[in-house]
Amino acid sequence: MKRIFLVVSLSALAAVSFASASFADGDAVKEKNAFADGDAVKGKKVFKKCKACHSADEGGKNRVGPNLFGVFGSKSAQKAGYKYSKALKAADVTWDEATLDTWLTKPRAMVKGTKMTFAGLKKPKQRINVIAYLKTLQ
Ligand code: HEC
Repeated sequence: MKRIFLVVSLSALAAVSFASASFADGDAVKEKNAFADGDAVKGKKVFKKCKACHSADEGGKNRVGPNLFGVFGSKSAQKAGYKYSKALKAADVTWDEATLDTWLTKPRAMVKGTKMTFAGLKKPKQRINVIAYLKTLQ
């Protein structure tokens, strides 16, 4: 019995340390200057993960998610003809570096009830680069 308890508590311990390690990776970027280093060319490659649901060209179709042309600097849930979730409509955020960084880390943590089912980009560098790419869509 004791032995079983030990095994259980050890695996619980392992789970906790695992969770905190991935949490560090999924942390929001706190250093504002980091966004100045964003590489839009690399970000375009990261955007392949988004393309299943989003178009990026001007006047592009809304798919599972809204077209993202001009999204940087705009208010959330503004694309005409797209049916947003109530949650995102109510969120009322302006998409800048900081808000996009939080959103792309884990959409459902930022806007509970969003229909963007994408899990998120854990690597800060990928988010920084994809945000640099989103900026070019103007
Ligand atoms: C599985 C489909 C899917 C993937 C993959 C996906 N998204 Fe989304 N995205 C959505 C949906 C659906 C919404 C609308 C959310 C809502 O209404 O709650 C959305 C909304 C957004 C918005 C807010 C748009 C607005 O008009 O306010 C941004 C920004 C965004 N996504 C960026 C991205 C980026 C960048 C990626 C890739 C890293 C990505 N998404 C990957 C489905 C997806």
